[in-house]
Amino acid sequence: MATERHPTATTLPSFPDDHTVAGSAHLINLRYLADEATCVKSLSAIAAQSTIVGRNIHKTAASLVAHVRVLNAEQSGLDAFLQKYDLSSQEGIMLMCIAEALLRIPDKDTADRLIADKLSMADWSTHLGTSESLFVNASTWGLMLTGRMLSLDDQTRSNPSSMLRKLVSRAGEPVVRSAMRSAMRIMGHQFVMGRTIGDALKRARKGENAQYRYSYDMLGEAALTRKDAQRYFEAYRDAIVTIGKSSQADDLFAAPSISVKLSALHPRYEFARRRQIMEELVPLLVALAGYAREANIGLTMDAEEADRLELSLDVFEAVYLDSALENYAGLGLAVQAYQKRAALVIEWLVDLARRGGRRIPVRLVKGAYWDTEIKHAQELGLSGYPVFTRKVNTDVSYLACARLMLDAGDALYPQFATHNAHTLSYILHHAGSRDDYEFQRLHGMGEELYSAVVDTSRYAKQCRVYAPVGSHEDLLPYLVRRLLENGANTSFVNRLVDESEPIEAIVSDPLQEVAELESIAHPKIVLPAHLYGAARLNSSGINMPDRAVTAVLSTDMRLAIGNDYKALPIVDGQAIDVATQPSVNPFDHADVVGTVGFADAPLTVAAIDSAAKSWIEWDHTPAERRAAVLRSAAELFEHNTAELLALCVREAGKSIPDAIAELREAVDFLRYYANQAEQRFAVPEELPGPTGER
Ligand code: FAD
Ligand code: 2OP
Repeated sequence: MATERHPTATTLPSFPDDHTVAGSAHLINLRYLADEATCVKSLSAIAAQSTIVGRNIHKTAASLVAHVRVLNAEQSGLDAFLQKYDLSSQEGIMLMCIAEALLRIPDKDTADRLIADKLSMADWSTHLGTSESLFVNASTWGLMLTGRMLSLDDQTRSNPSSMLRKLVSRAGEPVVRSAMRSAMRIMGHQFVMGRTIGDALKRARKGENAQYRYSYDMLGEAALTRKDAQRYFEAYRDAIVTIGKSSQADDLFAAPSISVKLSALHPRYEFARRRQIMEELVPLLVALAGYAREANIGLTMDAEEADRLELSLDVFEAVYLDSALENYAGLGLAVQAYQKRAALVIEWLVDLARRGGRRIPVRLVKGAYWDTEIKHAQELGLSGYPVFTRKVNTDVSYLACARLMLDAGDALYPQFATHNAHTLSYILHHAGSRDDYEFQRLHGMGEELYSAVVDTSRYAKQCRVYAPVGSHEDLLPYLVRRLLENGANTSFVNRLVDESEPIEAIVSDPLQEVAELESIAHPKIVLPAHLYGAARLNSSGINMPDRAVTAVLSTDMRLAIGNDYKALPIVDGQAIDVATQPSVNPFDHADVVGTVGFADAPLTVAAIDSAAKSWIEWDHTPAERRAAVLRSAAELFEHNTAELLALCVREAGKSIPDAIAELREAVDFLRYYANQAEQRFAVPEELPGPTGER
């Protein structure tokens, strides 16, 4: 196949920014997948403090933990349950699987089959009688018996897994399914403030709840259709109006607020649809913020997946600077400290607030999608992770971001969302006597910790509760994140209720811990390229939401369009000049990708004969040599990525992500079969060669 330069302009689907960098958030992407050690080093420097301050922080954190443990002596049912079913146990994983399955599986039959499969695998019996908590045993029995008592003989009783199988076979999966749903509902009750905004507002006024500020979240995210997005928009709008009517606060920062997930408001909230998002989603948010402004309440944009971060900043900037919202100081943003870009985002927000001339409420969180981010980066074969791989690195990042926020009190209204006593104590000490900030916790979590913080005779600080509102149909993604958070054995809340963990250990200083690490990145979370260990390299992917990457890719693909491709029959390694016809781009017939000439019957026979000869030769090539050829083909594929992608797009009409997937699959196959060739088909030395000699 010969290639020549082709002067005519041809078509490629447009890139989100058409390879120019839009918005002023672009510098942030320099740290998208940055080296973890470099990031942590610079963050540690920002968060650093004197030994004395460190000691005081430690003391306060330890006293807060002791306070919680006293209150927790009568452990709440859910804490005990979550601790019992920690994620490292087989049952914890199973509960997650089932919760996730119920979320994803639309039809009952498939859900039942999965339940039958999973339930019989777990060893529920080990939990029976091992906890004082009635709740644990009740839940275990509840799950085992799914609410229906069976008559159990002694033998069955002593073998709960056979009991479970018996149960499934007698009662049937639908009963188990409905019991699982009830279990989810019980847990949902713990984390949801009310089914309706009216219920939630009423509950917020009751007893100790009245000590807190609230940010209501209408459950629902990841809308897949316009209809769903419309439903969520209406739920937010109606909630804003209702909250406004019930609020008496004059000060916007003290007033209630609403938390909004952008993925609920648009079915294509993704970087590849940037233009569409700026045209369609920005006006929706301006409208919601307009209602919030009229109601004199705040509106915060939640932080979601890392690949949406820069798009969310573009949206935020456009809404914040919209003339309809002039002087509205309630528009806020959540920032996830586990992202390597977090500190740059804070600096960008400070700059935006100063440009816009009004403060921005910023909610600092650690981030709730960690597991997904790690898996996603591995699956996409990215050059690194967008998030830190060690929890302690996230802690340091949080402290550094907190310092940046406290230092920019003129520009930001800091909102520190955490349930971690050490993190909280760090902020208490660095903020000193200031009260131009607030803490935040999730409904159903951190009550005991914050009872001391809001207590006017102790710390007397403000705290806002993030209060989800809705029904169980929209709860599952939120619930799964809470179960992950509570169940993970690295989570502060999990360690807090584990009496066997010494207080000293759970309030240790992350800055010191990081300084003592041999390797800053987690040694067990290898970079995506090394996912298959020593066996083979993972194919490299392209981080499409990274503007810097797409800018280069777009230029290279456009350059490749200039190649004039001519595909001809090849016999004995020689291209045969036959009549050709144009090959056109299926989505733009004016775009001629190249020309193609087909072999007639005699040429085909000649080609087969010549191929057969080379095939014998190949057949007798030692496996190592063949493996080397396959590996070098893989390298060439990766080296010529832009040109091959442009061809996949123009010749086959593939979308760019599909073209990337196709190319990566080819590279993975080449490397995989190179390994297989070496392992299985090594030609014994004594076999005759193609000409018969040994
Ligand atoms: P800790 O136990 O100290 O920290 C746990 C966190 O550490 C994990 O959640 C994770 O972020 C991080 N982590 C765990 N393991 C690792 C690891 N191996 N490597 C790196 N990091 C790790 N989350 C969002 O994503 N978006 C939001 O908009 C959002 N809004 C929230 C609003 C409020 C009011 C609150 C309280 C939380 C919100 N969250 C949000 C959830 C929040 O991210 C988690 O509650 C938070 O991460 C828990 O942190 P912690 O300090 O309480 O606990
Ligand atoms: C979540 O939905 C609280 O926004 C956070 O997990």
